Amino acid sequence: MTIEIMFKRLINKNFRRPKGLVGRYIIRFLKKNQIEYDEMEPLLGLQAGETVLEIGYGLGRGIYNYAGKHDCSFVGIDFSRLMYVKARKLNHEYIKLGKVQLMHAAFEKVSFDDDTFHCVYLINVSYFWEEISSRLTKIISILKPGGKLIIFMADAEVFKNVKQLEIEGIFYSHTKEDVIKEMKEIGFTSMNTIEHTQEKQCYYIIGYKPLNF
Ligand SMILES: C[S@@+](CC[C@H](N)C(=O)[O-])C[C@H]1O[C@@H](n2cnc3c(N)ncnc32)[C@H](O)[C@@H]1O
Repeated sequence: MTIEIMFKRLINKNFRRPKGLVGRYIIRFLKKNQIEYDEMEPLLGLQAGETVLEIGYGLGRGIYNYAGKHDCSFVGIDFSRLMYVKARKLNHEYIKLGKVQLMHAAFEKVSFDDDTFHCVYLINVSYFWEEISSRLTKIISILKPGGKLIIFMADAEVFKNVKQLEIEGIFYSHTKEDVIKEMKEIGFTSMNTIEHTQEKQCYYIIGYKPLNF
């Protein structure tokens, strides 16, 4: 393995689960993701009293901003201890008020009750899921009937030169078509895709749990 590949692998491991010194270095990149959180907000269309889940909250800035503007309950789950500590610190007032609950765990390992959330969203997290259908199955069951899922991701085309990293088993690029197909197969309806205003081939993929699911 060349030094370059080793370095890329280390960086990607840390995008997956930020940790230690490299994790701290990654933070400066995560801070640039504010635009995705800003663009996600109107798409979520949050209504007072709703319960919302973010998978892979990172620095917790999205939840923090939304909690300041919307009378909703926010639950976040992230398996990086470094991110958990940072996000908890930022959100401590909302946590005290019971408006925000942050979990330090892998989404796959935690059970949530069925029909719990009005909205589930994730930003730049699906790249770390080799197969997405089991996660989509879990998401549809924990959404309330009529609930909404929004996945923000860059299409596989954006990563066409980093195939080596897929082989290393860290990073998995998916095409938007594959994600939409999987979502439809799992049962999501009224699918809609919106492109990022500044980044080409980066998408917000939206789907709903049917009322009669
Ligand atoms: C690239 S970062 C994106 C963070 C944030 N959403 C953003 O866009 O700034 C991916 C985050 O997802 C978390 N993550 C990845 N897979 C996860 C899983 N299966 N369960 C919980 N958290 C996960 C990582 O710890 C990390 O904080």
